[in-house]
Amino acid sequence: MSKVIAISNQKGGVGKTTTAINLSSGLSYMGKKVLLIDLDAQGNASQGLQAISHRGQKTIYNVMLENAPIEEVIVHKTEPHIDIVPANITLAGADLELDKIGNGKEQVLKNSLKAVRDQYDYVIIDCPPSLGILNTNALTAADSVLIPVQCEYYALEGVTQLLLTIRLVQQLYNPDLRIEGILMTMFNITTKLSVEVSQDVRQNFGKQVYQTNIPRNVKLSEAPSRGVSIFEYDISSAGAKAYGELTREFLRRNEGR
Ligand SMILES: Nc1ncnc2c1ncn2[C@@H]1O[C@H](COP(=O)(O)OP(=O)(O)OP(=O)(O)O)[C@@H](O)[C@H]1O
Ligand SMILES: [Mg+2]
Repeated sequence: MSKVIAISNQKGGVGKTTTAINLSSGLSYMGKKVLLIDLDAQGNASQGLQAISHRGQKTIYNVMLENAPIEEVIVHKTEPHIDIVPANITLAGADLELDKIGNGKEQVLKNSLKAVRDQYDYVIIDCPPSLGILNTNALTAADSVLIPVQCEYYALEGVTQLLLTIRLVQQLYNPDLRIEGILMTMFNITTKLSVEVSQDVRQNFGKQVYQTNIPRNVKLSEAPSRGVSIFEYDISSAGAKAYGELTREFLRRNEGR
């Protein structure tokens, strides 16, 4: 049985892509078959894993808006083995174009995924920083949502709005959608604010919040420029330890081990 997880938060720069890349890699190292879907026109996940190699390369745009078979777009990465459906700037116009489809425009990604989802243990979707139709497509295709929350003052405001969106998608398109977990990112143990925000989120969301906090760690921001995950970039870094721990916690929750 495969599970589709959307990594979503409409707030920009909270660690969605960093989590998508490093959780996908962590799961692959644990022997899981992983498909990573880049659903952001910024293409950060694709660049961060060197999945875009030439101009005119087919991407998720061609799959969702031109019916290109998803198998033809998948990039197979090794060490660790991750299959990637890349994105690039062409996706920027997708919101408007999807809107024109009218009926069923929220189900496009879900339908595109049908052909391949069963080949994977986990399908991870890196969502864009907005609550537009692409994000709705991700939430409609997903079994659960993983919400990264940056340890800063306005953190919870965005989450409240995202939870309303999730409830709406549950009512309209995907009644089985669950919260996978809330992940505190860019945690800095030496600042009072980080500690307070983390405590506040834990008080509000209890067990939904992962025990693992992702620390602010410069190695995590450097790894994408080398086109690798944190595990190949610096296995001894605090970032690698944290994403390794998150991967184990994720698997304990999902597979009870
Ligand atoms: N734990 C961390 N420590 C240090 N830097 C981080 C950490 N997590 C992410 N970053 C850096 O912060 C920036 C934003 O992170 P990331 O791209 O993962 O966020 P995002 O939510 O995907 O952003 P967007 O909303 O633009 O898609 C990036 O430059 C990234 O390298
Ligand atoms: Mg991103």
